[in-house]
Amino acid sequence: MSTFHLVDHPLIQHKLTIMRDVNTSSKDFRELLNEVAMLMGYELTRNLPLEEVEVTTPICKARLKRIAGKKLAIVPILRAGLGMVDGLLKLVPVARVGHIGMYRDPETHQPVDYYFKMPPDVENRQIIVVDPMLATGGSASDAIRKLKDSGCTQITMMCLVAAPEGVRKVQSEHPDVDIYAAALDERLNEHAYIVPGLGDAGDRIFGTK
Ligand code: PRP
Ligand code: URA
Repeated sequence: MSTFHLVDHPLIQHKLTIMRDVNTSSKDFRELLNEVAMLMGYELTRNLPLEEVEVTTPICKARLKRIAGKKLAIVPILRAGLGMVDGLLKLVPVARVGHIGMYRDPETHQPVDYYFKMPPDVENRQIIVVDPMLATGGSASDAIRKLKDSGCTQITMMCLVAAPEGVRKVQSEHPDVDIYAAALDERLNEHAYIVPGLGDAGDRIFGTK
């Protein structure tokens, strides 16, 4: 069964509050999004498997732990997911990055996909799908379906702000996928925007409107 993890460290809550403010600039929004992604990544990678290796310190030989070669791939859903990639790469610089291009049709709110490019051995990697907004859950659910169709079996979803509707959809369609979010907001409005949310994440990151 999928688990919903609320990653609400005080630093994350503080940064997210600034991001929600309509007066926060794109520059600050982008910087804060990457900072929060890095802080969330710390929690999300908590269970990475470790192995013992022998290391010679200046004092003696010791058997110590290191990450057991588990390969990661970060997969942003374009565009807004791009805003979380650099923060995660700071933690795991050797991770590969795949891209899924998707936008929501403004009338139907259904996802329309336009791009899919993964590293060649994606099926052997632990996948972190990143997108700041989990609203209806249509984009995330379709993205995860495409990754499964490509052979991926270990997938985790990471978002900044989730709506209950989106969490329900992803969990019912992908019960094997855990979700990490910095906030679970109240609901969606009539335009399928998250309330209180932070508006259109892609527009706020890239300064488009
Ligand atoms: C936003 C967001 C998600 C999607 C969430 O992208 O970044 O991908 O909407 O909504 P959903 O859960 O209802 O599918 P958008 O379609 O605005 O595209 P953009 O990132 O290119 O701005
Ligand atoms: N996409 C966004 O960028 N924001 C929302 O609130 C919902 C979908």
